[in-house]
Amino acid sequence: MKQIKTLYLYLFLAIALSVFSNSKIVAAEADSAYIFAYEVNNGLSVAWSIDGENWHTIGNGYNFLRSDYGRWDSQKRMYKPFLFQAPNGLWHCVWSVNDTDGVLAHAASKDLIYWQRQSYPIVMENANCIDPFITYDTQTGKYTAVWSSNTGEAASYSATTNDFKEYTAAVKRVKASSSAEQRQTAMISSHLKAGTTHKVAWHVVEGLINKQKLVAYNNLLWSENSKNDPERFASLTPIDANIIVQNSKSKKISDKLLGIFFEDINYAADGGLYAELLQNRDFEYVLNDKEGKDKNWNSYYAWSVNGSSATFTIDTVSPIHPNNKHYAVLEISKIGVGLANEGFDGISLKAGEKYDFSIFARSAESRTGKLLIRLIGKNGEIYGENTTKALSSKWEKQEVVITAKQTVSNASLEVIPQMTGEVHLDMISLFPQKTFKSRKNGLRADLAQAIADMKPKFVRFPGGCVVHGDGLDNIYRWENTIGPVEERKPQRNLWGYHQTAGLGYFEYFQFCEDIGAEPVPVVAAGVPCQNSAHHGHPIGGQQGGIPMSEMNAYIKEILNLIEWANGDANTTWGKKRAQAGHPEPYNLRYIGVGNEDLISDIFEERFTMIYNAIKKAYPDIIVIGTAGAFYKGSTDYVEGWDVVNKLDVPMIDEHYYQSPGWFIHNQDYYDSYSRSKAKVYLGEYAAHLPGRPSNLETALAEALHLVNLERNGDVVSMASYAPLLAKEGHTQWSPDLIYFNNTTVKPTIGYYVQQLFGQNAGNEYLPSMVTLSNDQDAVTKRVGISVVRDSISRDLIVKLVNLLPVAVNSALDLTDVGKIDASATKTVLQGKPVSNDIKPVQSTVKVSEKFNAELPAYSFTVFRIRTEASAK
Ligand code: AHR
Repeated sequence: MKQIKTLYLYLFLAIALSVFSNSKIVAAEADSAYIFAYEVNNGLSVAWSIDGENWHTIGNGYNFLRSDYGRWDSQKRMYKPFLFQAPNGLWHCVWSVNDTDGVLAHAASKDLIYWQRQSYPIVMENANCIDPFITYDTQTGKYTAVWSSNTGEAASYSATTNDFKEYTAAVKRVKASSSAEQRQTAMISSHLKAGTTHKVAWHVVEGLINKQKLVAYNNLLWSENSKNDPERFASLTPIDANIIVQNSKSKKISDKLLGIFFEDINYAADGGLYAELLQNRDFEYVLNDKEGKDKNWNSYYAWSVNGSSATFTIDTVSPIHPNNKHYAVLEISKIGVGLANEGFDGISLKAGEKYDFSIFARSAESRTGKLLIRLIGKNGEIYGENTTKALSSKWEKQEVVITAKQTVSNASLEVIPQMTGEVHLDMISLFPQKTFKSRKNGLRADLAQAIADMKPKFVRFPGGCVVHGDGLDNIYRWENTIGPVEERKPQRNLWGYHQTAGLGYFEYFQFCEDIGAEPVPVVAAGVPCQNSAHHGHPIGGQQGGIPMSEMNAYIKEILNLIEWANGDANTTWGKKRAQAGHPEPYNLRYIGVGNEDLISDIFEERFTMIYNAIKKAYPDIIVIGTAGAFYKGSTDYVEGWDVVNKLDVPMIDEHYYQSPGWFIHNQDYYDSYSRSKAKVYLGEYAAHLPGRPSNLETALAEALHLVNLERNGDVVSMASYAPLLAKEGHTQWSPDLIYFNNTTVKPTIGYYVQQLFGQNAGNEYLPSMVTLSNDQDAVTKRVGISVVRDSISRDLIVKLVNLLPVAVNSALDLTDVGKIDASATKTVLQGKPVSNDIKPVQSTVKVSEKFNAELPAYSFTVFRIRTEASAK
């Protein structure tokens, strides 16, 4: 603790000193200095020196620029960065991204601190680009890039450019040149480094030093967590809070603030919310779903033959549909053998409940046997059975209902043809009849109910990264996910498994309607995920985009979606919706375009085309742009906002996953936002602690943030935690809001926070005057309050967050609100910060215009108070 205090003091003094020095009170520094730009840990670092001999590192190799090319973490490399200052003062950095791709990466900066969007032009087709450097020709005003490439012989190449995005064709140099000619060496912290040296004004160095100090200072604040509370608050005693609610200063806030973001990650869809009980029902699993990492992940996955008198193979001749190519072939020599499916970690059954079984089948030899369908246990127990009608030589859908005799969690399903010879089977499916709202092809009732209980005002779907996909061929195409399930196009889920598309756009929209939530579909902005691993080619993969020749067709697809959702049954696409069972339009109002994309020129060009087309065809649709994956100041955030401001896009999607300390120290995040620019949709956020647990501390940090979002509900229109669902044993990302297995739904404390905000939402915000008996920054930042009124019920809702290890004795003054009922509902979540099994406790309490409430240590309290105007 002492160490932390000293560090704080040091940082404070350092920052204060630098402020003074900026204001020229201290004017003893040299007018100019040298900087040395070099690579450390795959990023660009800077050292400084007055004499060009003795070098000082800044932040011990702090990276001022990192490459965004390649798969997250493992592939984001920066080799041999070369820093160059153009005559107009703009800094340019070029680097090679790996030793295979012919990409010459580039970024520019005015001050070496804020780096503009990166670009990755390909300068060498089918060869690499390494060790690049830049020169400038004052006569032509053009830049020449020179690099090496091992095309079988060591050779160097050059090309010229005006903008570092488009280059002339690469020309082989007569004499191989080495970047060593253009680079210098320097001893940095006793290590000889290669880099570039530049003479700059002292204030440039000072700016770099201050930037790094600020980052270090913020990191220190943001890494604060409850582990250090015993020391941080060693002498803290319970505090008093005086809270005066100011009805007269109330303002309108969004009536859609809290919603959900559903993405098929962690087996959220297949094996999760989508109620299908059989795995790989269509025999469409392919090695590529897992990028070849699991040799068993193929058409046979989850299937086996019980018995030796049959062979089981896969065929693709005359399938049910071209989108569903593979089917099972059973060659039976003796009746009694069955094809068995193990489900997703077993099949769970409830005694007495009915299950809809369906299958497409045909007999190759036109035999007319039937299929015996059985639900069986490990030792051959029969939990239920039924028999289909006779097969024919054509693909025919057979349907039977099976009633479960027992409640079990590990059944399998067997299909036992009652004939010998060759039988073809496909789309073998088993659904509980009790789906959510009893929908066919529906959702798991308990999971869907848990979501509905949050009272979300909107649902963002289907991703996330699932939307922009892992390469252009993996972009989520909504049209592939509607119509009969056997005709939908399954695909590789970029989280490393298989998506059947059984839970498709029709089911998403239906679910939204069933829970009274606004649908917010998201489509890719014509670019795939920048973090995917698939070839950095501008056409094929990441950092690339849909070719311009295909953009019109892609835009048409997006416009078709709007027509499908909103057009009447006479329109081409509205008709498809009507045929699927929903003649009434869905009244779609929002559409997200892009998901935390790299904001490159390739992105901007495509986003602009899509946005303009939607605006022209459907001016009432609210398009949501994207501001990258990080908070204020990051390049994608700045550039994303810039694009949205330029085009006047009405809403922008922000994402940040941060530490509880970040949320504690960023409570004024939105207070400075313009109220006349785009509205914010905080599409993804969560509090992450080291080790990524989900506990009371993370939940309270999120509650604190939600309190701040309510206060800023005039600029933040919507917010959704991410991710929503995670199946135990199949979780790629933690923490999540709701964990589950085949039989049990396990909401986290974070879920209850979201639920309390969702169930106690308001559309009018009443500011409060809060005075605490202890005004230390660390204390005041850990107490949050929000008072809202719901214009429908006219109820007043007071939410109070206490992230302190002591109680806060609050005195609430609601005099300004007018008459209130004498009794109110109080709900409290409290416990130890590390607790992960707390549930809200509700009680009825006495309240009056002035009343006292004790907020326990580490707690979230909600009062729902009826007013004179409340609905009776
Ligand atoms: O929520 C999980 C992932 O986080 C989303 O798919 C993506 O948008 C973000 O990076």
